[in-house]
Amino acid sequence: MKPSKKLSGIQDYYFARKRQEIARLESEGARFLTLAIGNPDLDPPEEVIESLKTHLKDPGAHKYQMYSGLPSFKQAIADFYSRHFGVHVDSATQILPLMGSKSGIMWLSLAYLDPGDKALIPEPGYMAYASVTKLAGGLPDYFDLLPEKKWQPDLDDLKNKAKQAKIMWLNYTNMPTGTVADRDFLKKIVDLAIENDIIIAFDNPYSLISDQKTSILEFSDHAPVVEFQSMSKNFNMAGWRMGWVAGNKEIVANIAKVQNNAETGMFYPMQKAGETALKISDRWFEYINDIYNRRKKKVRELASLFGGTVPEKSGGMFVWVKLPEGVSGEKLSDELFYKHHIFIAPGTIFGKKLDGYVRISLTVPEEIYEEAIQRIKTEQ
Ligand SMILES: Cc1ncc(COP(=O)(O)O)c(C=O)c1O
Repeated sequence: MKPSKKLSGIQDYYFARKRQEIARLESEGARFLTLAIGNPDLDPPEEVIESLKTHLKDPGAHKYQMYSGLPSFKQAIADFYSRHFGVHVDSATQILPLMGSKSGIMWLSLAYLDPGDKALIPEPGYMAYASVTKLAGGLPDYFDLLPEKKWQPDLDDLKNKAKQAKIMWLNYTNMPTGTVADRDFLKKIVDLAIENDIIIAFDNPYSLISDQKTSILEFSDHAPVVEFQSMSKNFNMAGWRMGWVAGNKEIVANIAKVQNNAETGMFYPMQKAGETALKISDRWFEYINDIYNRRKKKVRELASLFGGTVPEKSGGMFVWVKLPEGVSGEKLSDELFYKHHIFIAPGTIFGKKLDGYVRISLTVPEEIYEEAIQRIKTEQ
C-alpha cells in the first residue's frame, strides 16, 4: 500500500537517523560525545517529582481527563505569564495545554492550512515547521533571518510574503542562533499580522533559558497571534511532553478542536506536578542559567579549535558557531562525527544556506566538552 502523497516529501527526523547511526557505531565499539541534541541532561526540580508521586494517589487520577486541561493547571499557566512577562491571559479561553509544544505545531497547521495554503518559515529555523506544513497539505515559503539584523528578518520582505500566506512561524529566543528578539521588532510583527490578516505562531520554548524574558503576548492583545511554550527546557521536563499554546481565543479554540479529535486530555498527576513547576521560585532559573553559562565558556574553547566564533551573548540551549570563511559546517561535522566520534549539528539542517555554521548543544556536563577538546587536540 502506498503512503499518502503528503508523506513523500517528508524524511525521518534528522536526529532520529543520526541516533540510529550512533547506535550502530557504538555497537561496533565507538563511544560518542553527543553535542548536537537539545535534550536537557539536568533533572526537573525535586518538588515537581514529589508532586507527581503525591498526586498519583488522588481520586480519579488515572481516569480520562478534561480535553482542554485542568482549570487549575491553566490558571497556573496564566499566573506564570503574569509573574514572568507581566501579561494577562484568560485561563479559560486563551490557554490550551499541549502534549509538548511540538504537537501544537501540527494542530495549528491542521486547523488553518487548506491544500496549497502557504506558511512562512524562517531560515534558519526549527525543522518541524516545514515538515508539519507539508503534512497538513500546505506549502512552506521561506524567509531569511539575517545575521546583520541580529537574526531577525527584513520586515519589508516579510510584508510582501505575508500577503499570500496564512501562518507565519517565528521563534525567539531563537533556535539555533540563541538570539532574543527586540521588543520593537515584536511590536512591528504584531502590526504586520493585523494589517495582513496572517496568524503569527510565536514559538517560545526557551522563554526563561535566557537573561532576557520575552513573550509576544505582551504586544498582541486581540491580534491573530498565538504563542507556544514548553515545559521541556525551562523545567527539564522534556520526556513528560508538556507545553501549551496561549493567545488569541478564536485560534486557541480551533487548535483545541483538532487536538480533542486526536488526543484525550493529559495525565492528571502530570498536570498537578506541572502546577508545582510553574510556581517555582526564580532561584530555579538562576540555577539552570548559571550552569548553561559555564558550559558556554567550554563551548567557546571547543569552537576555537576549528576557528569558530560564537556570539558574545545568547539564550537557549545551544551555541551557534560561525565558521571561518570557506569552511563547510557539513564537512566539519562529518569529520568530527567519523574521526573523533563527536556529534555536533551542521547549520544546513536549519536552512540550506547555512553551511557556514554549526550548532553545539549545552546539554552535557562540562567534562564532556573537556573530553571533546582533548580528543581533537590529541589528533590534530
Ligand atoms: C524551536 C523549538 N520549538 C519547539 C520545540 C519542541 O519542544 P517540545 O519538547 O515542547 O515539544 C523545540 C524542541 O527542541 C524547539 O527547539
